Amino acid sequence: MPPQTVRLVQITDCHLLADPAERLGGVDTEATLAAVIERVRAEAPPPDAVLATGDLSQDGTAEAYRRIKALFARLDPPVHCLPGNHDDAPTLAEVLPGDGVYVGSSLLLGGWQIVLLDSTVAGQDDGRLDADELARLDRALGDQQGRHALVCLHHQPVAVGGAWRDAVSLENPDELFAVLDRHAHVRGVLWGHVHLPFEGARKGVRLMASPSTCFQFVPGADDSLAVGTDPPAYRRIGLRADGAIETEVCWLDAAAPPRR
Ligand SMILES: [Fe+2]
Ligand SMILES: [Fe+2]
Repeated sequence: MPPQTVRLVQITDCHLLADPAERLGGVDTEATLAAVIERVRAEAPPPDAVLATGDLSQDGTAEAYRRIKALFARLDPPVHCLPGNHDDAPTLAEVLPGDGVYVGSSLLLGGWQIVLLDSTVAGQDDGRLDADELARLDRALGDQQGRHALVCLHHQPVAVGGAWRDAVSLENPDELFAVLDRHAHVRGVLWGHVHLPFEGARKGVRLMASPSTCFQFVPGADDSLAVGTDPPAYRRIGLRADGAIETEVCWLDAAAPPRR
């Protein structure tokens, strides 16, 4: 990557539980997150920032967020978080900040602006960007026309395949894209939620979703319980000074903790 490239790592859908002895579908989600964190710590050169794009906890408990924060604090780069449908957004915002962990808003790195959105609606699995959040996005992008922009949220704004999965998506993608279409410097949209890798494009804007740090769904499956055998993963992202995005999914190998 060219030297001016902003290096990011995305981790998503960690699904930690309040009780560390509990398992989610047989998976020790704390152990798989810890394994991902260790891999990110070994990144050379290290990322400039880490983005954590929701479903950080499975149960929205303060206990889960305290343990997530302790794991994130092992990372030298700052960790910027947004909530997912399994999170309790107020508890997340209360417990996570500090020790290099940040929640929400927008950050500037090199020639890039990264905007983090909250697409959660309390009590429901699908997402929505309300009028305030859309207005905040519009303002943030309008303030940084001289930069390139990456926009992050939890829910998918386009279909990624699988009837169940796409039924729990962003309810108002047209309103999001209407804002993005007003700002020609938007280069990418990044999300979690779908527990599988996805790459697409819309009007020259890169669209990216990433696998989870715990378990992955089966691509195209209509059954919400169709959990595959792919290992935990994270995404490496390079934001180049010319506005191009270089990215790849990094899967943990056999060194990852086994399912129990
Ligand atoms: Fe998830
Ligand atoms: Fe989710």
